[in-house]
Amino acid sequence: MTISSERSVGYERILSPITIGNLTLPNRVVLAPMGTEMGTEDGRSTPREAAYYGARARGGTALVMTGVNFLQSDLEPIAPGLARADTDEHTAGLKGIADAIHAEGGLAGLQLTPGLGRNNQYYDEMGMEPVSSSNNPYFFDPERLCRPLETDEIHLIVQRTGEAALRAYEAGFDVIDLHGHTGYLIDQFMSKVWNRRTDEYGGSPENRARFAVECLQAIRENAPGVTTSFRISVDHKFAGGRTWEETKDLIRALEEGGLDMILCDDGSYEAMDYVFPPYYLGDDCMVSAAARVKTIASIPVGACGNITPESGEKILERGEADLIVIGRGLIADPDIVNKLKEGRAQDIRPCIRCNQLCTGNAFFGKAIGCAVNPEVGYERERVITPTDTPKNIVVVGAGPAGIEFARVAGLRGHTVNVYDRADRIGGVLLPAATPEFKRELFRMIEWWERQLATIENVTINLNHEVQPGGDELVGADVIVVATGSHPFVPSTIEGAENAVDVLAFHEGAEIGKRVIVCGGGLSGADAALELAIDGHEVIVVEREEEIARDMLMLNRTSLLRELDKHNVQILIGTTVTSILPGGIKAENAYGPVDLEADTIITAFGLRPATELGEALGTEVITVGDCVAPRKVGDAVNDAYAIAFDI
Ligand SMILES: Cc1cc2nc3c(=O)[nH]c(=O)nc-3n(C[C@H](O)[C@H](O)[C@H](O)COP(=O)(O)OP(=O)(O)OC[C@H]3O[C@@H](n4cnc5c(N)ncnc54)[C@H](O)[C@@H]3O)c2cc1C
Ligand SMILES: Cc1cc2nc3c(=O)[nH]c(=O)nc-3n(C[C@H](O)[C@H](O)[C@H](O)COP(=O)(O)O)c2cc1C
Ligand code: SF4
Repeated sequence: MTISSERSVGYERILSPITIGNLTLPNRVVLAPMGTEMGTEDGRSTPREAAYYGARARGGTALVMTGVNFLQSDLEPIAPGLARADTDEHTAGLKGIADAIHAEGGLAGLQLTPGLGRNNQYYDEMGMEPVSSSNNPYFFDPERLCRPLETDEIHLIVQRTGEAALRAYEAGFDVIDLHGHTGYLIDQFMSKVWNRRTDEYGGSPENRARFAVECLQAIRENAPGVTTSFRISVDHKFAGGRTWEETKDLIRALEEGGLDMILCDDGSYEAMDYVFPPYYLGDDCMVSAAARVKTIASIPVGACGNITPESGEKILERGEADLIVIGRGLIADPDIVNKLKEGRAQDIRPCIRCNQLCTGNAFFGKAIGCAVNPEVGYERERVITPTDTPKNIVVVGAGPAGIEFARVAGLRGHTVNVYDRADRIGGVLLPAATPEFKRELFRMIEWWERQLATIENVTINLNHEVQPGGDELVGADVIVVATGSHPFVPSTIEGAENAVDVLAFHEGAEIGKRVIVCGGGLSGADAALELAIDGHEVIVVEREEEIARDMLMLNRTSLLRELDKHNVQILIGTTVTSILPGGIKAENAYGPVDLEADTIITAFGLRPATELGEALGTEVITVGDCVAPRKVGDAVNDAYAIAFDI
């Protein structure tokens, strides 16, 4: 593998100004609206959240948009912890955000939603009845039909939108974005699949856009001079959902309604992976949405979804969008714009599109974090400063845990010697990063290589195995064991020697045409997909009732679609009992299963490499997979936290 030079292209377009409504943005980068879950239970923003947004402005982002804020609880409940703009008591928190962004030289945008309609999970809990544009099936219980909103109820929601806009105005926001995406209430009104009304809010595109346009008008009336924005899903990405043909007339209606800019991508609750696109969907996975809107819109158009600075520059060059809307990329690295300006694009820490600690946390109502940036949510506390007591630190293992530890400890001024028996840093992440769809993992390793190369007091010693009692450990004030894991094969399975371990496959072992992958966790499933993309005939055999159980639901949605597309056969509920030179023996509820293949790959999981840590005793620090095999985000976040405090 070679270090790519892709990141050194020029960024003139991204860094050029643009005027939208009454505003001039100094560059084209917009922070995508993303809920942070950093507020209080009753939806007020906190200094922690303001600092998170402030850091994105400090990093040069032209327009920092907040995650969605709910504006009414008259007709549907607002779940605890969700951000709100529905009472005057919420204005102070909103002002805290706007002030923090302005203090760092950014422009501040607030996203508002009139509600989720059929996609709100909390009706029963709050003793309310599901509502929607029409009598649509309730998403969480399709047997139940939602109650269509009455005209006076629609008018009340529009009024509430105006009241929230006034709060945003008083709080000092420059932009108000209306959430018309993801199949939420506005989307339910806009889309034929959910709108069968026969009144002025149903039927023609103008009628279906009426609710959105009235909300926009209420915003303009109550927040004079504020620039308006609209978040739209151009293609819902499910059979029967709205497609471009239906969307284009809505765009015209919104524009005629006085909209200033539009942020475009795809997805819906029915295709949630497009809302939080995992690595399987690839670069610029929804740029066609913006490109289509660009062909008819005269207002600025934003593109969103797995966009990197370099792909964003090309999108602007091709004229497919006017703004580059970056979400998770700016969680992973808040300083994207400043690094581009300084000619340091190669120092931008990539988002690995894992969804692990951003979306993953948000789904469970926890403050968002990041697999590769442990400072997210700790912008005030985790500022790396020099230590008063520099130490001599030896780190064994240059996987994600060891190198993140070394980076942070090195930046603090400790002298760090890292040892790894491999010939390159990265640990098992390096072979794991070989599939094309996982190349952001590889970029992350390149990022560590570059960062470590600039820290003089960190030395990386490769091709160097450390044994208990080794000379390297003598004189160390602190020993950090980050030795990772070993492949695991259940003792009940005979003939493991006839198989290729999943890591050996990634490292280049010869693989025949017909392949059986034993074990359908993340590593087995990803290996199966890579093989199938490369033209192999692949069967995955999994003991549990579903594959990739160690993966977030929405990542799995993408994975299963890709496996299906590439004809990977999946045998669930099937336990491998023995591995033979040309096949496997297994059992499932129907009896014995004999399968033939040219190559068998084992991906049964990992067990912690505890030997060195145990031999060295309790004095050492253990971190990463050698404590318990998990994911990159766990290794990195644990390593950062310990190194920060040492
Ligand atoms: C096939 C596969 C795919 C994966 N895909 C993903 C994914 O998509 N997303 C995700 O989040 N996670 C993924 N993971 C998990 C992730 O790679 C690990 O959680 C992460 O690498 C753990 O980091 P670590 O530093 O603790 O250990 P490791 O990455 O295992 O690194 C340990 C290092 O220690 C070195 N070492 C061990 N003993 C010694 C010694 N005595 N002397 C010198 N060096 C030593 C090893 O050579 C190795 O480089 C995957 C794992 C595998 C196996
Ligand atoms: C944690 C998280 C929360 C999100 N919350 C919102 C939201 O409140 N409103 C919204 O319109 N989109 C939301 N999104 C979607 C993002 O705006 C964006 O479309 C998505 O992350 C894809 O862009 P990216 O690949 O640049 O991250 C959220 C995404 C994430 C990761
Ligand atoms: S947790 Fe993963 S997907 Fe989310 S921002 Fe961080 S690296 Fe990106």
